[in-house]
Amino acid sequence: METVVVLTGAGISAESGCNTFRDNNGLWRNHRVEEVASPYAWQHTPQLVMDFYNERRKKLFTAQPNAGHYALVKLELKYRVAIITQNVDDLHERAGSSHVLHLHGELKKARSTVDPTLIYELNRWELKLGDLCEKGSQLRPHIVWFGEPVPMIEQAIETAKQADYFMVIGTSMVVYPAASLIHYIKKGIPTYYVDPNATSKAGNPLHIIKEKAGVGVPRLVEQMLNQ
Ligand code: APR
Repeated sequence: METVVVLTGAGISAESGCNTFRDNNGLWRNHRVEEVASPYAWQHTPQLVMDFYNERRKKLFTAQPNAGHYALVKLELKYRVAIITQNVDDLHERAGSSHVLHLHGELKKARSTVDPTLIYELNRWELKLGDLCEKGSQLRPHIVWFGEPVPMIEQAIETAKQADYFMVIGTSMVVYPAASLIHYIKKGIPTYYVDPNATSKAGNPLHIIKEKAGVGVPRLVEQMLNQ
């Protein structure tokens, strides 16, 4: 079975009602998202950081996967599909995809600030200052912030090397190391970039599909299933 490796970003969840990071000029309540999603902000303005993720988590509890997520599930009829997502939502899993690697953490999880191995499922949208882990320290969003290491990147690189086909969906490809994954794929394999604002930033992909994910991904998947 051939392997399709898919790198997704916020754009694949946009039609599910989840905001991308760099729409509104990358601002949230007049703060740059890079400034809110950072260890510095957590240290100096923790409530602001909690509010940012609580707002997103609240939306996620009512959001549903869209045609783009479902098309990637259908692709498993013919291919081994490995999804590497920069998204912290769980819409790929809820759609039914079998292999999903989260590069930047997961919104529905919290973790201890003293012991990063203590990770907890959140079955509610609100995480509060004062919510503690079993060792008595504050819980933080289980998110990789700007300036923090990306523990899953090695595994993602190994996955990218396996690709017989590579897809990039709904990402501005400006955040590293995620954007560097394109450099690890085998030379010359068919590569697709589905994004209304796609440019050759994704490493001169062979096929640029300037469509929303809900339209472009199902069409591409049908094409790949029929070839
Ligand atoms: N379908 C497909 N793509 C879309 C859609 C859509 N319906 N709507 C918007 N897009 C595209 C935009 O054109 C843009 O290229 O989605 C992309 C979103 O880009 P960003 O907001 O930069 O999101 P992303 O690339 O996922 O950001 C990477 O940055 O803030 C951090 O950790 C955060 O994982 C995130 C990372």
